[in-house]
Amino acid sequence: MIRSWIWLITGIGLIFWAFFSYQISQVEVGNLLVNPIMEKPQQPLVIQLSAEAKRGETLFKNNCATCHKVNRPLTGPPLANMITNYTTDEDKAWMYRWVKNAPGMISSGDERAIELFKRYNMIAMQSFPNLSDQDIGGIMAYVSETMD
Ligand code: HEC
Repeated sequence: MIRSWIWLITGIGLIFWAFFSYQISQVEVGNLLVNPIMEKPQQPLVIQLSAEAKRGETLFKNNCATCHKVNRPLTGPPLANMITNYTTDEDKAWMYRWVKNAPGMISSGDERAIELFKRYNMIAMQSFPNLSDQDIGGIMAYVSETMD
């Protein structure tokens, strides 16, 4: 008689233990209860661009996309080069001047400009005198957020 009571109490104890340990293993993600071992919250499939990069995306599509892609060459080199090849302030300042007036820099005899021009089959990039530093910064933000 006493033995069966012990079994009953142990059994109820086990059921409670199982129930509460399952509750504890769940965490709240948003409004949903998720078991962290069973399911990971999904990564968003679409890259969320910053506001600056969104502005840059429009400028890129309207001005650069006919000759450039971000991650691979088209008529011109991949624009990921804007990030990887121009790391110092001096480099960046040079690149901003290049974007604003590449043909002018080639004809003025700037060595680095001539080097680039020769390396890419002497196809000229047009000038973009209307783009501000902020515009070019926006294009760079778009490039850095979408490059491989
Ligand atoms: C008509 C085609 C054309 C358009 C439009 C164009 N580019 Fe270019 N770009 C080139 C070519 C070609 C080169 C390689 C240098 C050369 O041949 O003069 C180049 C080179 C560059 C470089 C130097 C890359 C490196 O490897 O150092 C940068 C930066 C650049 N372009 C940015 C831009 C941006 C930003 C825009 C849009 C605002 C743009 N380009 C629009 C053709 C173009």
